Amino acid sequence: MAIRTVSTRPFDGQRPGTSGLRKKVAVFQQEHYLENFVQSVFDSIGDFKGETLVLGGDGRYFNRQAIQTILRMAAANGFGRVLVGRHGILSTPAASCVIRKHGAFGGLILSASHNPGGPSQDFGIKYNTGNGGPAPEAVTEAIYRRTQSIDCYRIVDAPDIDIDRTGTCALEGMAVEVIDPVADYAALMQEIFDFDAIRDLLGNGFRFVFDAMHAVTGPYAVEIFERQLGASEGCVIRAEPLEDFGGGHPDPNLTYAKELVERMFDEHAPDLGAASDGDGDRNMILGARFFVTPSDSLAILAANAQRVPGYAGGLSGIARSMPTSQAADRVAEALGIPCYETPTGWKFFGNLMDAGRVTLCGEESFGTGSDHVREKDGLWAVLFWLNVLAVRRMSVASLVRGHWRRFGRNYYSRHDYEGVDMTAAEAVMARVRKAQEHLPGSKLAGRVVRACDDFAYTDPIDGSVSRHQGLRILFEDGSRIVFRLSGTGTSGATIRMYLESYEPDPSRQGLDAQQALAGLIAAAVDVSGLHELTGRQQPTVIT
Ligand code: G1P
Ligand code: ZN
Repeated sequence: MAIRTVSTRPFDGQRPGTSGLRKKVAVFQQEHYLENFVQSVFDSIGDFKGETLVLGGDGRYFNRQAIQTILRMAAANGFGRVLVGRHGILSTPAASCVIRKHGAFGGLILSASHNPGGPSQDFGIKYNTGNGGPAPEAVTEAIYRRTQSIDCYRIVDAPDIDIDRTGTCALEGMAVEVIDPVADYAALMQEIFDFDAIRDLLGNGFRFVFDAMHAVTGPYAVEIFERQLGASEGCVIRAEPLEDFGGGHPDPNLTYAKELVERMFDEHAPDLGAASDGDGDRNMILGARFFVTPSDSLAILAANAQRVPGYAGGLSGIARSMPTSQAADRVAEALGIPCYETPTGWKFFGNLMDAGRVTLCGEESFGTGSDHVREKDGLWAVLFWLNVLAVRRMSVASLVRGHWRRFGRNYYSRHDYEGVDMTAAEAVMARVRKAQEHLPGSKLAGRVVRACDDFAYTDPIDGSVSRHQGLRILFEDGSRIVFRLSGTGTSGATIRMYLESYEPDPSRQGLDAQQALAGLIAAAVDVSGLHELTGRQQPTVIT
């Protein structure tokens, strides 16, 4: 075996975003493309000689090939050990858990999250640092700069490693340890949640279904829900990870988890339905004929956290992304703890968690998590709900309604216009920006506009400033309209329109959200020229 230095050249657009580098598989399959990026990562993260790297992915097409390449490159670059998930599998939260537990230098997670997989679909790669969280912007910027000047990469000539059996082997002086992808993660869940109480709930007629969407959480869900917690066999549906996710879109929302949603809105619906995305960091929670918005979910978990062993000592604070509804703010206020409003994207929570300022955090985009890892965590959220329901012994719907009675209801919805022409999307944002100039003080949808801005955030820990995080129209009664362009899509632009209003009166909390928000929705469409400028009359996804 020998280390080879291969000449390469910079590729355009290898700029890792908030969720790493995401491109079509064909882009990653270009000669030297993956190697170029991986070497740029290795050249930008400091001295890792002899250290441990964690490696795994969501099992999508190209995962296995990429793992073999990265193993050879890690060996050639001087890592001491790589912990790789069996079959190349590690969910994003499990990777974060493994990095932290084993004191790894960092990890490479292969995933394009909720984007479809397969030869003509997406692949992605992201670097997480030793705290288990996504690399901070300074690191991703350094990686990007390196991709633009790189001229060679190092790789070992060696046959493929068998990643389908646990055990250790050597690769040019580096240890490759194939680990059970579930074990460390399941052990952490046992520390946080009351497994006995959940077992008791599931063993006494409570009906539960989990949709793994043929993505990475299948093996985790079967082990934890069925084997360890005694949920009935088969309660995990679409459990087998497939390279193309069975042709589906592995995003747990009302549109893409259609089968689960139909089952949960049936008259014989189970008591709890849940789903997770491609790489296992998102979650969707449904009760029988009842959808829990992720924003409400965060607020409800926060309000009930002390009933769960891992949070019995209380929460230090809560953080939510700006477009997430303000439901959590009311809980934080009642608990007398701070609530932070951050830009979209999980990385902003990391600093707050590392500094011990927040325990729980969440985003409206089906992401919820806590300081047990440094990523959002789909299965953790489902276990949290199971644990709370095991203690409260009531239906999901009555738990949520009781929460609304106490704290008020934040009607909330997000309308996504996907695959829009980029120029049209920019025109929509420009139109909103223009309207923002004269809106304050005037009335829109029968409400007075208090202020308008483009959300900016100063990180309270490191002082860094993030601007242009979303155009907001804020009303005096607490309602909001927000526009942003997605930063995670790979084709065209996605316009996200977020709507929120607050209803303290329990007798008016039972409306359908679209109905309750109809006035705001119409006003938002009107002010932005959305339909006229994009030629679209309907959103692609309504949540
Ligand atoms: C989307 C979500 C955001 C989440 C990100 C990564 O980003 O809106 O909350 O953090 O995916 O999962 P966006 O496409 O809106 O930029
Ligand atoms: Zn994800």
